[in-house]
Amino acid sequence: MSQSIKVIYGSTTGNTQRAAEAIAAGLGGTAVSAADAVPDDFKADLLILGSSTWGCGELQDDWQSALPMLEAADLSGRKVALFGLGDAVGFADTYLNAMGEIGDIVKAAGGILIGAWESAGYPHSASTAEENGHFIGLALDDDNEPGETAGRIGRWCAQLKTEAGL
Ligand SMILES: Cc1cc2nc3c(=O)[nH]c(=O)nc-3n(C[C@H](O)[C@H](O)[C@H](O)COP(=O)(O)O)c2cc1C
Repeated sequence: MSQSIKVIYGSTTGNTQRAAEAIAAGLGGTAVSAADAVPDDFKADLLILGSSTWGCGELQDDWQSALPMLEAADLSGRKVALFGLGDAVGFADTYLNAMGEIGDIVKAAGGILIGAWESAGYPHSASTAEENGHFIGLALDDDNEPGETAGRIGRWCAQLKTEAGL
């Protein structure tokens, strides 16, 4: 039986929303705004969670109402993939910190992160979403490298198909 896939995202100006819709289309899943998410959305076989980073390293606002649902979800032993949108030049030292924050919650809830993405070549200087030369999920930057986004999403979807056995 095919796996249910939910892409839950927080987006203020539409960049993360467009990425979420492209990822959902690439994997045969459904994209849902964090502002509209309900607890059942967090029960999908494969959860893909995305956020842009705002303020100085903060989660996108729509995640505030969805975070309690994520924290309450039973993620033990479940695969979860993350993606983030940020500005690796203008906010080089807080690049994608929102993805780091979501990653911490997923790990605390017992989830298994898949979809790590090599960080070499990005112009950032620091990120809480980076571990051992990799971001914990897909790193996108529509402010500085919009031409890279479609290709990165395509390669990441192919990687997830392998890692999640889709
Ligand atoms: C006021 C402001 C603060 C921002 N802070 C950060 C930040 O701390 N880290 C980061 O990586 N990007 C930061 N960004 C860049 C946004 O995350 C980026 O533009 C993103 O593509 C917006 O996606 P969205 O339209 O889905 O919300 C900031 C942008 C603005 C305008």
